[in-house]
Amino acid sequence: MSLILAFESSCDDTSVAILDTVYRVYCNLISSQPEHLEFGGVLPELASRLHIRHILRLSEKALEQTGFNMAQIDAIAVSINPGLIGSLIVGLAFAKSLAWSLDKPLITVNHLLSHIFANFIEHPHLEAPFLALVVSGGHTELVYFKTLTKFEVIGKTVDDAAGETFDKAAKLLGLGFPGGPIIDKLAKTGDPSFVRFPRALPHRDNYNFSYSGVKTAIRNYIERQDAAYLETHKADISASVQAAIVEPLIQKSIRICRQLQLKRILIAGGVAANSALRNGLSQEATKYGIELYYPSLGLCMDNAAMVAAAAIPKYQAGIYAGLSVNAFSLKGIREL
Ligand code: KG4
Ligand code: ZN
Repeated sequence: MSLILAFESSCDDTSVAILDTVYRVYCNLISSQPEHLEFGGVLPELASRLHIRHILRLSEKALEQTGFNMAQIDAIAVSINPGLIGSLIVGLAFAKSLAWSLDKPLITVNHLLSHIFANFIEHPHLEAPFLALVVSGGHTELVYFKTLTKFEVIGKTVDDAAGETFDKAAKLLGLGFPGGPIIDKLAKTGDPSFVRFPRALPHRDNYNFSYSGVKTAIRNYIERQDAAYLETHKADISASVQAAIVEPLIQKSIRICRQLQLKRILIAGGVAANSALRNGLSQEATKYGIELYYPSLGLCMDNAAMVAAAAIPKYQAGIYAGLSVNAFSLKGIREL
């Protein structure tokens, strides 16, 4: 059995994990950055500096906790795209230095692909073909996996992503950041039909998503109400916002599965933690005999265990990166 030491630093979470090649997690340490909270969003420069502060400490703790030493590690994995470029560079530079000094192979991973592979940690025997719905802070994509390493993007957002729409709505409602979990919680006691916000690109033959119209409609609605009304109805408005974001995700995922006769959907990314998405998609999938998989809540968030999981097929195929590899910040899932 080989061991992979993995790093995740694409946004505001520093994470270090050790997994073996059958997806067993020995540790998955995450250090989040509450320093951004007072700014209502992530400050890129601050994020990079905090990654520098945390990454060595977490790495030492990972070895200490698991009892492994560096000589026992067989490969180093790291996310290199997409993400905040300064943050990615911290993780990559650290991973490269280790790979070089220990003479271990370096494996680079696309962050969205790693979100999808988070599903394999709890379901290591999952097989392709399947549809992956990636819904994170900056991305909304439908990806058809023919095999574990061959995939095709069927649809993606043409403007804003589902996660940032949750975050924006919560900010306008004065609820805090990140908005997704707060809206999810409030929506549980609200009426989703209280306000009818527009649904993005509902057409039958279109698998793309668009959230800019929904975002504008939410902003216009909120700006028209007074503060007391918003406070009284914050649960109803949250439930209505959530319905407008989640419905197109469910409809399009089911429609494409039926068209391609796929029997498996994997959801991934921060928004995969959303209870309305999980429950709604689960109900619809059951109707059509489709199996639905999603990671447990802790594995939906950015973490290094998913980076190691996505590195496993590459490790097995001997696909390594050279030390001249650079981090980059192009949107979307891609093979690296
Ligand atoms: O995947 P992720 O950690 O970041 C990116 O890689 O972009 O996802 C973060 C996003 C945020 O927009 C956050 O509001 C959203 O995931 N999120 C949720 C929930 N938990 C996190 N959105 C809706 N419902 C949730 N329960
Ligand atoms: Zn992410």
